[in-house]
Amino acid sequence: MLFQLNEEHLMIQKAARDFAQNELLPGVIERDEHQKFPAEQIKKLGELGFLGMMVDPKYGGSGLDTISYVLAMEEISKVDASVSVVMSVNNSLVCWGLETFGTEEQKQKYLVPLAKGEIIGAFCLSEPEAGSDATSQRTTAIDKGDHYLLNGTKNWITNGGTASVYLVMAQTDVAKGHKGINCLIVEKGTPGFTVGPKENKLGIRGSDTHSLMFTDVKVPKANRIGEDGFGFKFAMKTLAGGRIGIASQALGIASGAYELALKYSKERKAFGKEISQHQAIQFKLADMATEIEAARLLCLKAAWLKDQHGNYDLAGSMAKLYASKVAMDTTVEAVQVHGGYGYVKEFHVERLMRDAKITQIYEGTSEIQKIVIARAVTS
Ligand code: CAA
Repeated sequence: MLFQLNEEHLMIQKAARDFAQNELLPGVIERDEHQKFPAEQIKKLGELGFLGMMVDPKYGGSGLDTISYVLAMEEISKVDASVSVVMSVNNSLVCWGLETFGTEEQKQKYLVPLAKGEIIGAFCLSEPEAGSDATSQRTTAIDKGDHYLLNGTKNWITNGGTASVYLVMAQTDVAKGHKGINCLIVEKGTPGFTVGPKENKLGIRGSDTHSLMFTDVKVPKANRIGEDGFGFKFAMKTLAGGRIGIASQALGIASGAYELALKYSKERKAFGKEISQHQAIQFKLADMATEIEAARLLCLKAAWLKDQHGNYDLAGSMAKLYASKVAMDTTVEAVQVHGGYGYVKEFHVERLMRDAKITQIYEGTSEIQKIVIARAVTS
């Protein structure tokens, strides 16, 4: 067992850190306040190869491993989790799903521009009445011979307004339950496909979250991913990897807040010395440092398992469950270390605290992760 990053990992980590500091930090408070999608920043991130990090270079990707992805996600999330959620959905859900299960034609048409970051994608599973209970899909994709007729509504879709390509789960045969679900690739602009208003969120406010409506949308059969009825398995397999991405996002939010709290504690004086010299603050910093390191190890272990082609479902859920709790706990404590300054926008930690919460909700709530973990350990 070698707890050491190689030269390439260190290079990727540094590139992501530099990008976050130079390109993301300057406008992050304003983007959060005005719910402004980071379009320019996403474009640059794509040009640097961060939107198709693990995709084979023959499909326009960077050909990197999942460990590099975790490292980059942590660095970007330390500064702007609204950017890292775009990165996570595009890399883990959309590109990975298409590369692993798509046809050659689907890869050439959709994966190549997605991996190059020329366009971005969205993953559409959640519905008004099917969130955690994902098998209860109400959206229908009726088989019409050479095409499907898609009808229904999707909720909480990240990149909902800005994506060009949408992977949409829908029920083709209700009698077959989850075995009757398909995943269809739907292009923006297809007649009958409309995007609802942008959600006004607590955190990750720069990201673009919408409902989507489908009314008699014709989707060619060639746009189905995998065999008939493979859609639910597709969603579960894809989300298993997505959870490593969100775990790394949570890790980055936590480590970003910790670094700010540590720095502030060395600058701020109270009762005649820096507050970092008071045991009340030292105990907080010690807890944060230890919990963040444990979360990082869980993320890296899940990534390593994925790179070894092992089963990473359990490790990914453990990483997400734990890292998202650490993100929540650490950001609350980082605000506390800052005192009144922590409660105002200029010091960044209040935003990180708001951003942390979503990591316990999307790509499976903490309770869903516990279900996945409990099933694995009791089977
Ligand atoms: N890999 C492969 N197959 C899997 C799987 C996995 N990881 N997990 C489940 N399956 C298969 C099962 O084997 C089963 O297939 P068979 O019937 O052939 O055996 C089938 O899927 C159904 O599984 P379950 O019986 O376990 O289904 P369930 O109804 O009990 O639910 C669940 C399982 C884990 C709760 C699942 O519904 C779930 O993960 N829910 C949460 C959904 C979620 O994460 N939503 C997030 C939305 S996407 C998002 O947030 C993206 C974004 O924009 C940021």
